Amino acid sequence: MIPNLNIVPFVSVDHMMKLVLKIGERFLTELAFYIEDDFRRWEAFDKSPRVASHSAEGVIELMPTSDGEVYGFKYVNGHPKNMREGRQTVTAFGMLADVHNGYPVLLSEMTILTALRTAAMSALAAKHLAPPGADCMALIGNGAQAEFQALAFKALLGVRKLRFFDIDRSATEKCIRNLAGFGFEMVACRSTEEAVEGAEIITTVTADKQYATILTDNMVGSGVHINAVGGDCPGKTELHRDILLRSDIFVEYPPQTRIEGEIQQLAPDHEVTELWQVITGAVPGRRDPAQITLFDSVGFAIEDFSALRYVRDQLRSTGLYQELDMLADPDEPRDLFGMLLRAAVVAKTG
Ligand SMILES: NC(=O)c1ccc[n+]([C@@H]2O[C@H](COP(=O)([O-])OP(=O)(O)OC[C@H]3O[C@@H](n4cnc5c(N)ncnc54)[C@H](O)[C@@H]3O)[C@@H](O)[C@H]2O)c1
Repeated sequence: MIPNLNIVPFVSVDHMMKLVLKIGERFLTELAFYIEDDFRRWEAFDKSPRVASHSAEGVIELMPTSDGEVYGFKYVNGHPKNMREGRQTVTAFGMLADVHNGYPVLLSEMTILTALRTAAMSALAAKHLAPPGADCMALIGNGAQAEFQALAFKALLGVRKLRFFDIDRSATEKCIRNLAGFGFEMVACRSTEEAVEGAEIITTVTADKQYATILTDNMVGSGVHINAVGGDCPGKTELHRDILLRSDIFVEYPPQTRIEGEIQQLAPDHEVTELWQVITGAVPGRRDPAQITLFDSVGFAIEDFSALRYVRDQLRSTGLYQELDMLADPDEPRDLFGMLLRAAVVAKTG
């Protein structure tokens, strides 16, 4: 008999924070390795654009995938107006399950984990696309995701100089306060134009439910790498279309990015390169110093699968999880109702 089939390990927000603090900066580099590993075996995964339920204020999405052994999904929302009401713009949780019996093997918070995986993915893409030796990044949008992005670019690329801009000055001040002590040279800028001056990498990570124009063509010099994170829904973009026409565009999963990414502004057959092919070495990333490279990030299910896989691999050594009584599991599988009756007897007799 297999004991405790009812139990699923659960990683709460508290345990996730303890895990991240215990592992430190290594969390981002190791998470990037896990994503890299899974992108190398891209063809082994079930893939589909995420299932999105749109409303006037935002979106709720389900992001499933499977490698034939393990199944995973993430629930995630995106509500840019939430921040003004004291809520997160993005919250998430996710699950892994055993494909062979369908039983969940992990349930986890993913609000913090999404910020980490998004940052790790951005930095992993930039490793192949940014100018070699780049050490200065403009960070446009200084909300919940911003510090994670900064730390991933430091851990994976050695970025040391940050130039911040946000329409809300207090968001920039928060970032600079939070990142003091991490060894960055940091400048608060008064405009996007000022922030991109001298930056070899431009990260846009703003939240606004519209076709926004955070970057215009004149702000983007030759040789720059753009990490466009905030445009990730139909009708929600950050870059002027002219920038896209000058850039070599790299994406996660084209059928999803064509719906959600910056490239929704382009013809459906506009040429893009799939990042997994750059990661396997099948096609080149950056080819020349003058090239403008663009990672049109929207966030794909395989990255969440990798992140959950990484977290699961840390549980045994750290013990940072709870045992959740989540699956009804009577001793005789067909006696589900009998289990209920026995519970009624126990409740009556105390
Ligand atoms: N691509 C991905 O994988 C991925 C993952 C997570 C989040 N996101 C997206 O990233 C964005 C940021 O998420 P967050 O959790 O940090 O949101 P947030 O609401 O915490 O922060 C967004 C920040 O952008 C600023 N901003 C809005 N418009 C601006 C403008 N025109 N110029 C400069 N700053 C501006 C806001 O003042 C705010 O500080 C969201 O759009 C979210 O949907 C993408």
